Amino acid sequence: MNELNKIEESIVEQLNKADTEDSIEKIRVFALGKKGKITEIMRSLSDMNIDKRKSFGKEINTLKLKISKLINDKRLLIKNINLEKKLKSDFLDLTLPVNLESNGTIHPVSQVIQEVSLIFGEMGFDIAEGPDIEDDWHNFTALNIPPEHPARQMHDTFYLQKENEIESKTSEVLRTHTSPVQVRTMMKSKPPINIIVPGRTYRSDSDQTHTPMFHQVEGLVIDEKSHMGHLKGCLVEFVKKFFNKEKINYRFRPSYFPFTEPSAEMDIGCIREGNKIVLDGDQDWLEILGCGMVNPVVLENCGVDSKKYQGFAFGMGIDRIAMLKYGMPDLRSFFDSDLRWLKHFGFTQFDFPPNSRKDSF
Ligand code: DAH
Repeated sequence: MNELNKIEESIVEQLNKADTEDSIEKIRVFALGKKGKITEIMRSLSDMNIDKRKSFGKEINTLKLKISKLINDKRLLIKNINLEKKLKSDFLDLTLPVNLESNGTIHPVSQVIQEVSLIFGEMGFDIAEGPDIEDDWHNFTALNIPPEHPARQMHDTFYLQKENEIESKTSEVLRTHTSPVQVRTMMKSKPPINIIVPGRTYRSDSDQTHTPMFHQVEGLVIDEKSHMGHLKGCLVEFVKKFFNKEKINYRFRPSYFPFTEPSAEMDIGCIREGNKIVLDGDQDWLEILGCGMVNPVVLENCGVDSKKYQGFAFGMGIDRIAMLKYGMPDLRSFFDSDLRWLKHFGFTQFDFPPNSRKDSF
C-alpha cells in the first residue's frame, strides 16, 4: 500500500468514528490544514522531477478532492442529525390543556407595548432601546435643550448627581423621555432610519394622570424626503389601527418642542363621564402625543447632515393610550400591584390582539 492509500484509509477511519462537528474540524485540519498530511505531501512536489511531479501531482489532487468531499458530506450529515435532535427536543404539545387556575396576567402596559410594536412593525419600523439612566447631554443638550433652557423646568427631572455636585455635562438623570434614544440611534446608524422606542421614563410628578415612572413610545424617521404629511398619515393610521376604529376624532395643534421645528401635539376626541374617559365624540380632547419635524440643530448635534437629511419624530404616552383604550380611570393603580385590579384589567396570552374595551373597575 502506498503512502497516499495509507493516508486515505486513516482519514476515512477517523471520519467513520467522528460524531461531532468539532471532531470533523479536527480531521479537516489533520488532512487539509496548513500543516496537514495532504498539504505536506503537496509541498514535497517541488522536490520531484517534472515527470514524477506530473503523475504524482494528479494523484494527490484527486485524493485532496475526494477527502474534501468526504469531510463536507460527513459534516452535513452531523449537522442534519443535530438539527433533527434539536427539533425533537424543542417539541411543544399545543394540545396540552391550559392551566386556567393560574392567577398571572399580562399587565396592560406590556400588552399595549406589544400592540403598538405590532402596528408600527407592520409599517416598517424597527425597535430601538436605550438606558433608563441617561447623561445630561443625551437627555437634554443634544436635543437642543442646553443648560438654563426653560424647557428643562418642564421635565421635573430626577437628577442622580451627588449632593453639592455642580450640574455638569456628564451628570446623570433618570431619562425624562424616550427622545435620547433618537440621539443614540442617529449617532450610531446612518439614514434611512425608521425606529420606535417603547420604554420607561421618569419625572417627579404624581396625580390621576401622572406617575413618577411612566411609559412612552418614541418614533423617529430620517431620510431625504419625509415631511409633515407623512408624519400625520403615519400617526392617523396608527390611532385607527390601535383603537380599532375607522373613524376617529383627532386634531393636530401647533406646539413647541426644542427638538422639533415645526412642532405639534395630537389630541383624540373623548367624553369624560365622571372620572372615566371614553373615546368618542369631540366634546373634549385628550392629548396623546407630541411630534414634529426633527430640528436641523439636533441632526447636526448627532452627526447627520441636515442639508441632505430630514425627518419626523413623535413621542406618545403609552399609559395614556392604554387608559383611553381600556377605560382605566386612574394611572396610579397601574403600579399599585393590586391583584384584583391586575386580574380585572390584565390580559391572557389569548387576548392578542384584543379589540374589546373592558368594563370599568
Ligand atoms: N419628548 C417629549 C416629551 O416627553 C415628547 C415628544 C415631542 C417627542 C415631540 C418627540 C417629539 O419625538 O417630536 O414631552
